[in-house]
Amino acid sequence: MTNPGRKPVIAGNWKMHKTKQEAKQLASAVVNAVKGQSDLPQIVLCPTFTGLETVLAETAGSPVEVGAQNMDWREQGAFTGEISPPMLVDLGVKYVIIGHSERRQFFGETNQSVNQKLQAAIKHHLIPIVCVGETLDERENNLTDAVIARQIAAALIDLTAEQIKGILIAYEPVWAIGTGKVCEATEANRVAKLIRKTVANLHNMPDLADSIPILYGGSVKPSNIEEQLEQSDLDGALVGGASLNAEEFLALITATQKKLRLAPTKS
Ligand code: PGA
Repeated sequence: MTNPGRKPVIAGNWKMHKTKQEAKQLASAVVNAVKGQSDLPQIVLCPTFTGLETVLAETAGSPVEVGAQNMDWREQGAFTGEISPPMLVDLGVKYVIIGHSERRQFFGETNQSVNQKLQAAIKHHLIPIVCVGETLDERENNLTDAVIARQIAAALIDLTAEQIKGILIAYEPVWAIGTGKVCEATEANRVAKLIRKTVANLHNMPDLADSIPILYGGSVKPSNIEEQLEQSDLDGALVGGASLNAEEFLALITATQKKLRLAPTKS
């Protein structure tokens, strides 16, 4: 966290978990624990579509924001089963995860649809959390850097520097998601630097690349978050499994608060 302009983010991706009642309980545990606290990271809860309204109601008036896990890029139409950006905005949702590897792996998400969704999110003033990451096979074949650079460049096609400014990127190596195998913090930081370089090259604007929060995701736990937070180019975490349990998720927030309190203040 070297750039003081980048506020750290702890985002919980609940995936396909939690009924309405369970979502209410978890959201209220988070809200109650952070009430009146200072030096908080930006906290974002991403429940299922069916949990959005409940979590929005529970977090209203608190520093906790709400995100969706996916959306379609079109505004309306004959697209059975899909949810549009204006529908999310209408509910009061602020963030949206785009291009999560599970969407890429199981639901046919491509670099092109990621770009379409990203453009739609920006158009509707939703803050996108764009996910990129290599598979184990790609890593073992030394393709990590090429895959990440390609995913980033493809996701950001046709976006102006101004549009890129508001996005968040999550580096989530596919082999680390839900496996308990966390990517070494220094390696995640190396990839985060590569992401910044790729963004900088698109518009020849290193400052722009430096301003984008980059989260790490993949088996983040209270026991390993501190190392990630120590890294110069990582600004928090996108958390799956550990976000489903209030105690564990709150421990991630506390670790980030601690780090923020130790950070040198701007003079
Ligand atoms: P995990 O998931 O923390 O359970 O590995 C992270 C994610 O998929 O965003």
